[in-house]
Amino acid sequence: MSYRENKAHPHAERGNDLYETPGVAVRALLATEWLPQRIWEPACGPGAIVRELCAAGHEVVPTDLVSYGCPGQVAEMDFLKLHGAPFGVDCIVTNPPYKHARAFAEKAVELCPRVMMLLRLAFYEGITRGSLLDTGTLARVHVFRKRLPMMHRDGWEGPKATSMTAFAWFVWDRSHRGPTTLGRLSWEDFVDVEPEPQSLPMAAE
Ligand SMILES: C[S@@+](CC[C@H](N)C(=O)[O-])C[C@H]1O[C@@H](n2cnc3c(N)ncnc32)[C@H](O)[C@@H]1O
Repeated sequence: MSYRENKAHPHAERGNDLYETPGVAVRALLATEWLPQRIWEPACGPGAIVRELCAAGHEVVPTDLVSYGCPGQVAEMDFLKLHGAPFGVDCIVTNPPYKHARAFAEKAVELCPRVMMLLRLAFYEGITRGSLLDTGTLARVHVFRKRLPMMHRDGWEGPKATSMTAFAWFVWDRSHRGPTTLGRLSWEDFVDVEPEPQSLPMAAE
């Protein structure tokens, strides 16, 4: 692992923050959480999460600020400027751009009653996120027991490595009241199941 990959990249270098989610992280979520049929991925990138959700039989509405060739991407949309969810969608699953993680989480819980976001575990600390973390609608946090495979920046062709950062799925549910349940999740059980990208049941616009 190079020094550069080992460190956080300065914001100016990070562009739109395209780091693709390892499929195993999504498969582990699918094995743990119930997800509705129709799901919105509002920062879809090339489609790492979309692929897994479709392979599990979900219909996905993929959008992103940029077009990276995700099959079925509905449009180039700035999620942070939207005022409503796509028709018939009440659940978001995404791995947001890290530099806008808080803004994405705030917008997502405003637009959808159920939100699942892959975030750094450190998102759970800090007093300024009180409105997101302390209102009682953060139902569950699933922490990966073992560090995920590294999410490399777009274009990275160096060696694959394990992430230096702890990640977790944060699950907000508007109908939840009370304390957040903290659980542990394994991704290692899901390494061998690669979905077929060509047979994706995409959601209609
Ligand atoms: C960490 S990557 C994750 C990509 C994909 N969700 C995945 O899990 O593989 C963040 C994505 O957020 C997108 N993005 C950045 N700012 C955005 C915005 N304001 N609205 C929508 N998408 C945005 C980037 O283009 C990039 O595709």
